Amino acid sequence: MARAKDWIIAGLVLLLGRGSGGAGDGKRRLIQRRPASDRAELVVLLLLGLSSLSAIGFIVVYAFDSIAAQTQYLGLALGLALLFFAAALVVTGKELVPEEELVEEYPPPEHPRDQETVEQLVDEGVDGISRRGLLKLGLLGAGGTLGLAALVPALSFGPAFRIKELFATPWRKGRLLVDEANRPWKATDIREADFYTAFPAGADKELQGSPLVLVRLPKDRLALPADLAGYDADGIVAYSKICTHAGCAISMYRVPLFQPDEPSPALVCPCHYSTFDPAKGGTVLFGPAGRRLPMLPLQIDAKGYLRAKGNFDEAVGPSWWGVRNRKPS
Ligand code: FES
Repeated sequence: MARAKDWIIAGLVLLLGRGSGGAGDGKRRLIQRRPASDRAELVVLLLLGLSSLSAIGFIVVYAFDSIAAQTQYLGLALGLALLFFAAALVVTGKELVPEEELVEEYPPPEHPRDQETVEQLVDEGVDGISRRGLLKLGLLGAGGTLGLAALVPALSFGPAFRIKELFATPWRKGRLLVDEANRPWKATDIREADFYTAFPAGADKELQGSPLVLVRLPKDRLALPADLAGYDADGIVAYSKICTHAGCAISMYRVPLFQPDEPSPALVCPCHYSTFDPAKGGTVLFGPAGRRLPMLPLQIDAKGYLRAKGNFDEAVGPSWWGVRNRKPS
């Protein structure tokens, strides 16, 4: 155990480049001086360089979604980076790090003499490495780029800065609600216990901010939060159809009810069963969604057609880290 500790200390000191002078200051050598191994050092440098290049390759491939078979290339680049790094460490261990067996018993490791001996061992050991600076640089380069490659996938948690587009939807004050065949929805078409899909008239139905779910609730059941007061139109409420968990389409409405498990009608996402309460502003009742459904304010025009009274109150779509605390304009 004590011996292992000594060698760990020795390895750390060697890596950090403790000392530069060589064997120590007139003391008796513990390790025979040996010639620098040019070839081994070059091989280690080459392997560290290849590891760095592979890690950089990983980052580059990650940045371009358009690359065909991107996942396979990512795996290949990361695998090669680790492989070259491991090979560099193996060659270092085998060819550059001195191997000496001391048969005498070490005094307790806390003893200052023990420490001195370890330091002398390291000083003498690094004598045999002539390109210490370059090797250090190679090690730092490979370690740094590998670390960077490991951090880059965190970007997939979603955009943090360029998020303006995530708040843009086709919904404006006065925009008519239509069905899939572009027929305008009348308020009287919407019945309780049914579930309807609506789109903005004249806009692209494929946009993330376009589709709505419409349900009608008895007015005495509505309990919208204060900041959503007036968002319903005669008991009809409209929410984004895109689940705030991972973006699937809300496509189930749990009615009729089976008491006591289903105390109120709810909008359900079929992907991971996030369940939203339409009576309370789309709050999450169950499931992995981290925030409620965005709600669209509604009005009924003079002819009885449903129209938007403005944009959603929240960002539409999955809960990227950049959208949680922002509001659509
Ligand atoms: S995408 Fe809706 S619950 Fe996961």
